[in-house]
Amino acid sequence: MKKVVAIYGSPRREGNTALLLQEAVRGAREAGAEVEEVVLRDLKMSPCLEIYGCKNSGRCAIQDDFQKVYESLLTSQAVMLASPIFFYSVSAHTKILMDRCQSLWVRKHWLKETSSGQGLSGRKGLFISVGATRGKKLFDGTLLTVRYYFEAIDCELWKSLLYRELDLEGDVLEHPEYLEEAHQAGSDLIRTL
Ligand SMILES: Cc1cc2nc3c(=O)[nH]c(=O)nc-3n(C[C@H](O)[C@H](O)[C@H](O)COP(=O)(O)O)c2cc1C
Repeated sequence: MKKVVAIYGSPRREGNTALLLQEAVRGAREAGAEVEEVVLRDLKMSPCLEIYGCKNSGRCAIQDDFQKVYESLLTSQAVMLASPIFFYSVSAHTKILMDRCQSLWVRKHWLKETSSGQGLSGRKGLFISVGATRGKKLFDGTLLTVRYYFEAIDCELWKSLLYRELDLEGDVLEHPEYLEEAHQAGSDLIRTL
């Protein structure tokens, strides 16, 4: 069975990105995947302290909830990540996770070990994001960050679902076509693995 980790990066439990990711999770499960859901706002996770305790082992030295997420990231064939746009970037919750994954970057670039043991072959990522405004460049900065993040965790960024002009909690419910797109992406992702 394909294993997937779905990471909720919004401080809102039932916010727009959460509703979209829930749909992607539903699609992935319907396609036969085992999906583990990680809600970052429920975890106790320190920011990266840049002490490079991961230098020799590729494992982060800070003992907190990141350790569980690390295991999930290492053992999943696909990663689904959802974050709202906060100041043209990802949410702080999401950024903390990304920085803690420097241990995976170390593993890949310094220790020359790939997360999956087989490089980019197979591991795929889906990114979902939402912003309130409609600027052309709304997702530009975030996509740079997210692309580099997925590369660091040895995962090809397979697809990004990006939606503008959604602000209040539940705004996305007025766009069933966005929810359907997320549902479809969740099942398509599994079929590409
Ligand atoms: C701290 C903060 C910063 C934000 N920065 C931006 C921004 O730079 N651009 C934008 O379009 N929306 C911005 N927003 C609006 C959110 O992206 C928007 O409300 C989104 O729907 C939230 O998604 P969520 O419900 O999944 O949390 C910001 C909201 C907050 C709380």
